[in-house]
Amino acid sequence: MITPHGGTLINRLVEGDAAASLLEKAAGLPSMTLNSREISDLEMITVGAMSPLQGFMGEEDYNNVLENMRMADGTAWPLPVVLATKGDDTAPEVGTTLALKNEDGTIYGTMDVTSVWTMDKERELDLCFSGSNEKADHNHPAWGYIETLGASYVGGTITVATLPKYEKHNDYRLTPTQTRASFEEKGWETIAAFQTRNPIHRAHEYLTKCALEQTDGLLVHPLVGDTKADDIPSDIRMQCYHALLEKYYPMDRTMLGVYPQAMRYGGPREAVLHAVCRQNYGITHIIIGRDHAGVGTYYGTFDAQSIFDQYNPGDLEIQTLRFEHSFFCKLTGGMATTKSSPAGPEDKIFLSGTKVREMLSNGERPPEEFSRPEVADILIAAYAQPATA
Ligand code: ADX
Repeated sequence: MITPHGGTLINRLVEGDAAASLLEKAAGLPSMTLNSREISDLEMITVGAMSPLQGFMGEEDYNNVLENMRMADGTAWPLPVVLATKGDDTAPEVGTTLALKNEDGTIYGTMDVTSVWTMDKERELDLCFSGSNEKADHNHPAWGYIETLGASYVGGTITVATLPKYEKHNDYRLTPTQTRASFEEKGWETIAAFQTRNPIHRAHEYLTKCALEQTDGLLVHPLVGDTKADDIPSDIRMQCYHALLEKYYPMDRTMLGVYPQAMRYGGPREAVLHAVCRQNYGITHIIIGRDHAGVGTYYGTFDAQSIFDQYNPGDLEIQTLRFEHSFFCKLTGGMATTKSSPAGPEDKIFLSGTKVREMLSNGERPPEEFSRPEVADILIAAYAQPATA
C-alpha cells in the first residue's frame, strides 16, 4: 500500500472518555467559528486526508507554501490550509487553546494556537491563483472566498471529538483508513482516482476507462465540498454517477466515494493538492486531464500536468495519469485524443459548457457521443426544477 504523504496517516480524532472530556473542556474556552470550507478542511485534517497536516497551517508553513509550494520542512504542499478570523473579530493570542465550532454552536474540538499573523489577501491571490495565461484578479473565485475573511490567520494543531455531520452522501464518506482497508480487501495494488466536480460525460468516462485498462481498480472520487454557484450540486451529480456506474462500469473494479474538500479553483496548484490528498486515501495514480481544477482562462490547458514536473522524484509518491483533450471522433467512431486519432476539427464532437446547459434546460439530450442518455435525463430533470440553494 502506498505510504501516506509525509510518511504517517494522521488521526486527530479522540473518542470515548477522551472525547467527552475534550468537549467539556472546550465548552469553557474562547472559540472560533469555522466557515464551511474550514469545516471541510478540519474534517480532512482529522481523518488524515491532509496528512501530514495536524492542524491549520502556521505562518512559516504558509509563506513557504505560497513561495515554494512546500512546507517549512520541505514537504511538498501546494496551497494554504488555513483558519481565518471573521469580520472585525480580534485574533486570539499565541498560546491560547480555542474551541472550534460551527455557526450553530456545535463544538468539533480544540486548537492550540501556535501562530497568528495578518493576512495579505492580494499576495495570496497573486501567488496561488495567477495562471500562466492571466494574473489572478478580483473576478477569480478565489477572491470571492478570500474577501469574505477577516484580517488574521490563526494556526495550530487541532484535536477533534466530533466530526462534522452531513445530511448527504453519508454512505460514501469513506475516510482514508476506510478506502485503504477496502483496497486491501479487494486486493487492489494500483488504484486510479478520478477527481471531478462535474457530471461524468463521455470524455471523462474515456479517461477513467483508459485508467481501468492500466490499474487494478478505479475510485470515482467526486469533490462534494463547496463549489461555485453555477457548478452542478453534488446531490444531482451523485445521481448521475450512480446511473452511469451501474450500467457502464465493471463494478468489481470500480468504487464510488466522496471527497470532502472545498474547491479552490487553483488549477495546477490544486491538482497537486488533489494528488497529495488522494495519496493519503491509498491512491497510486490520479487522472489529470485538460485544465484540471481550472476556471475561466487563467491557467494554461496542461499546466496542471506540468506542475508535477517541478517537484523532485520522491516528493510525491502518487503518479499522474495525464490526458490530452478527449472527444468523440466521428472519423474513428470512438472516444479519442489527438494522440490516438488523426481527426481534424470537423471530426470532433465538441459542445461548449454553455451549449450543453442550454440544451439541458430546453429538455434536450446532448448527443450520445457527448453524454450517456441516463446522465442527460437526470440533468434535464434537475434543470426543470426550480433552483434551490
Ligand atoms: S475538475 O475541476 O474536477 O478538474 P472536471 O470535473 O471538469 O473539473 O474534470 C475532471 C477531470 O477530467 C480533470 O482531470 C480534467 O482535467 C479532466 N477533463 C475534463 N474534461 C476533459 C476532456 N474533454 N479531455 C481531457 N480531460 C478532461
